[in-house]
Amino acid sequence: MLKIRDLKAKVKSLDKQILNGVDFEVKKGEIHCIMGKNGSGKSTLGHIIMGNPDYEITDGQIYFENELINDLPTNERATKGIYLAFQNPIEIPGVTLANFFRYTTKKFYSEDIPYPKIRKQIVELLGKFGIPEDTMRRYLNEGFSGGERKRIEAMQVLVYKPKLAILDEIDSGLDIDGLKNVVKYINEYVEQNPDTSIIFITHYSRLLQYLSPNMVHVMINGKIVLSGDMSLAKEIDEKGYSWLEDSIKT
Ligand SMILES: Nc1ncnc2c1ncn2[C@@H]1O[C@H](COP(=O)(O)OP(=O)(O)O)[C@@H](O)[C@H]1O
Ligand SMILES: [Mg+2]
Repeated sequence: MLKIRDLKAKVKSLDKQILNGVDFEVKKGEIHCIMGKNGSGKSTLGHIIMGNPDYEITDGQIYFENELINDLPTNERATKGIYLAFQNPIEIPGVTLANFFRYTTKKFYSEDIPYPKIRKQIVELLGKFGIPEDTMRRYLNEGFSGGERKRIEAMQVLVYKPKLAILDEIDSGLDIDGLKNVVKYINEYVEQNPDTSIIFITHYSRLLQYLSPNMVHVMINGKIVLSGDMSLAKEIDEKGYSWLEDSIKT
């Protein structure tokens, strides 16, 4: 599904190198977790997979379904089936949630399906994720609580049905019941769509107790330094990240 080879990238405007040779691969139907301290480059990796133009790839390759997508614009990556749930969803004053979905779903649903039908499904999904229907009339994320923003980011997986969903710190800002609920519906979605791949990005292992990832990766200084199974996440939970940093230096 996704193959990343020796990916190096920098912030365009600053000439600041952030990714220093990322290698990893996610197969169809797999759930992966990328862990790492704040500032290690996890969100940047998500943005670069999605094609955020603020960053420039200086070396390496990103393949999605065996196609090199390094230079593909973000909207084309989205229509190919990549979705990124932002760590910090932005406010878009003037665009109601209803209008946002009316526009975005155009790309993912057949023209034959009348919008009121899609809208009904979206309202049902919002309900499942604990968002009241009248939120559809509010401007996107304006005045929304951290938890509301995260729920809406996550529920969009069920709206667009991507092949690869990257969920960046979906656990931050969500209370424990909200988190359980979100993970429950994402897990359910994966069960119903077994070809879907999911990447959870987090710096806490709190999230991992509700997941059964195929692999856990640890990112330090813009590199994946160690990959393993759930036992790696448990080790990080107990020992933090410093032992890994020390072991890299030596
Ligand atoms: N657009 C940007 N402009 C300047 N610095 C950036 C930008 N994006 C990321 N960085 C820097 O890159 C580093 C990694 O950030 P980030 O990918 O957000 O880390 P993480 O998600 O692991 O906490 C941080 O030092 C951050 O300040
Ligand atoms: Mg981040």
